[in-house]
Amino acid sequence: MVIREEVYKFFADYIYKITGMVYVPSEYYRLDSRINELVQIFSLKSVEDLYEMYVKEITPDMKAVLVNISTNNETYFFRDVKPFTLLSRVVLPEILTNFPNEEIKMWSAACSSGQEAYSMLISIRNTTDDANFERCRVDGSDVSIKALDKAKLGVYNGLEIQRGLPAPMIIKYFRQLDPDSWAIDDSLKFKTNFFEFNLLTGFYPQEKYHIIFCRNILIYQDNENKGKILNSIYNALKKDGILVLGAGESLVGIVAPFQQIQFDGYTVYKKDSKG
Ligand SMILES: C[S@@+](CC[C@H](N)C(=O)[O-])C[C@H]1O[C@@H](n2cnc3c(N)ncnc32)[C@H](O)[C@@H]1O
Repeated sequence: MVIREEVYKFFADYIYKITGMVYVPSEYYRLDSRINELVQIFSLKSVEDLYEMYVKEITPDMKAVLVNISTNNETYFFRDVKPFTLLSRVVLPEILTNFPNEEIKMWSAACSSGQEAYSMLISIRNTTDDANFERCRVDGSDVSIKALDKAKLGVYNGLEIQRGLPAPMIIKYFRQLDPDSWAIDDSLKFKTNFFEFNLLTGFYPQEKYHIIFCRNILIYQDNENKGKILNSIYNALKKDGILVLGAGESLVGIVAPFQQIQFDGYTVYKKDSKG
């Protein structure tokens, strides 16, 4: 089906408005499969029917479906490995010491289907004693309800758990439900809380989190939105709290008042005590 420029532009503009993800005209072809999927989902005959339906009115359901199919939810357990090693061996021990007797609140701020939040907990469980593990909690949020539903369920197929998890960890932290589905252990699941949150438009809590992982979402944003998200995250961190970005992400081109700290060749970002 040939898609008119006006139709591409309508969906590209709407996706940008809601998620901040940029589709420039030379990338409109990346919307093809997504627009055609919407036609199928709503059992319509053509892209033009879909366009007409969206132009007329966008109901909350139509908005949610569009967000679900237009976001890139690619993720896997222990993605890039190093951030999780740093978390459990360097960042968390420092936070535990700096905030004695406090519940330690962490946030996987674009958690997709939950693998990042569960990887944080697995790495911590592997290296932290029972008393300190008890103190840890991980919130997970995303703009995609479909991804969040999976995160909340905590059930993954064989391919998904083998992406990043060695066999001993699968045995230790997952329960096999049937030949191709594995559920995360309740002792980790009970430490999570997943909720819908749009990093661009949501009302951020103030000084709530000790550690925030915000990985592989800023690469899809323009500099203005990146700055907006990073400044809001700064406010959501406690003083001396730590932000961890994705491997290909940095503060280059952004004005955000973080102090950069290098650990073993990986940069993390600290909210200065004077901040
Ligand atoms: C590529 S995934 C990254 C998942 C995980 N952080 C990782 O690194 O493996 C990016 C996630 O960001 C979410 N996302 C995109 N725009 C968002 C927004 N404005 N607010 C919150 N989440 C958003 C997408 O739904 C998607 O699940």
